[in-house]
Amino acid sequence: STELASNAVWHHATVTNQMRAEKLGQKPKCIWLTGLSGSGKSTIANALDSSLFEQGAATFLLDGDNVRHGLNKDLGMSEKDRAENIRRVGEVAKLMVDAGLIVICAFISPYRRDRQMVRSMFNHGQFIEVFLDTPLDVCEQRDPKGLYKKARQGIIKNFTGVSDPYEEPESAEVKINTSSSTVEQSVAAVLDVIN
Ligand code: PPS
Repeated sequence: STELASNAVWHHATVTNQMRAEKLGQKPKCIWLTGLSGSGKSTIANALDSSLFEQGAATFLLDGDNVRHGLNKDLGMSEKDRAENIRRVGEVAKLMVDAGLIVICAFISPYRRDRQMVRSMFNHGQFIEVFLDTPLDVCEQRDPKGLYKKARQGIIKNFTGVSDPYEEPESAEVKINTSSSTVEQSVAAVLDVIN
């Protein structure tokens, strides 16, 4: 594979990324939602996607639970596999942004290093980090999939927030505590920053 990579040539396209974006009439972006399991990532990502779609934007949604059933079904929850999960998703998001889309990504992405790596793939202002700063006890009370319960019982190992780290963002473009704001307010907070 090293040999292939070194012999591969980069083809410069006639249709530029800028031309694609202009055709869609929007500024392509990657909106990256990070937070604990149960912090509201999927709910807010979905509501944000609907809202942008209704405004006429060309969007796409990438969600951890879904991506892990396909593209990343070979990956587990070790630090190394989470890093690879985020790296691949970042590459896919980058391709979609190059195609002119507004891409919404919803992944726990617990490691600062991995989020920083994805951020560095985009131009300044193209990557918007949204930290769903929902307290652990609130996430645990919600426990929509019963995963916290299993994590406390030791049935699920390395569970983020319980037996695995979550490194909080230090300079996210948007920070939302979903226990003190509605889904609509959360969506509005993100739209405020991108529009
Ligand atoms: S990561 O850390 O960004 O690679 O994770 P992600 O791709 O977002 O996948 C998170 C979903 O996987 C389920 N799950 C776990 N989460 C955390 N820790 C452990 N050990 C774990 N095992 C399975 C869980 O359903 C997560 O979904 P969300 O939507 O966050 O609840």
